[in-house]
Amino acid sequence: MNLIPVLTIDGPSGVGKGTVARIMAQKLGWYLLDSGAIYRAFALAVNGRNIDISDEFSLVEIANNLDLEFKAEAGAELVSVYLDGKDVSKVLRTEQTGEMASRIASIGVVRTALLKRQQAFAKIPGLVADGRDMGTVVFADAAFKVFLTASAQERANRRLKQLQNQGSEGIISQILADVMVRDERDSSRKHSPLIPAKDALIIDTTELSIDEVITQVSELIKA
Ligand code: C5P
Repeated sequence: MNLIPVLTIDGPSGVGKGTVARIMAQKLGWYLLDSGAIYRAFALAVNGRNIDISDEFSLVEIANNLDLEFKAEAGAELVSVYLDGKDVSKVLRTEQTGEMASRIASIGVVRTALLKRQQAFAKIPGLVADGRDMGTVVFADAAFKVFLTASAQERANRRLKQLQNQGSEGIISQILADVMVRDERDSSRKHSPLIPAKDALIIDTTELSIDEVITQVSELIKA
């Protein structure tokens, strides 16, 4: 039994996990883990070192020595991410980095090497963790589990809006294609595939506003 309360929020890309997790963490006053950012930063680290991704020994070494820091800057909506002392926040959140992360995240030894780093985020008074396998693997004994879904078209629309808000551009048909490729890879991989935990509350957010999703998640915590 885990004494630290953990709320896991899993789901496919573009479903709004990050936004829901951030709002819930603020509301509850709990820590926040964006596990996708860890996989993304790891992918950047591997990319910057010119390593073949079949070289599992080097991958594990990089994972074990990943110099990664999250900093919540006053007034900023998203946390800043520092890799090897450099602010990589912008490049971290591009589609290209997401794609690299998704490829590398399917490697079992990488997932094992990054497991403890993620689990270390669970601290009193509590943690909100978002990702793909938070409720099934990383925090399998979490007290509260949510799995968000939405149609691929709706998720591509949301992703486009998010990119535009960050001052980037995107083409909706390309984003939709990328979202579908990434979902398929994340769902069909052998290690920690994207599936709802048996005890997760599944919320289809296609027709829901953020406020409506927050209400449902808040009810789960109070129940
Ligand atoms: O959530 P985000 O889009 O930032 O994640 C990037 C990629 O990292 C995902 O497509 C997925 O393949 C991988 N990931 C994962 N497990 C997590 C979080 C992210 O495999 N817990």
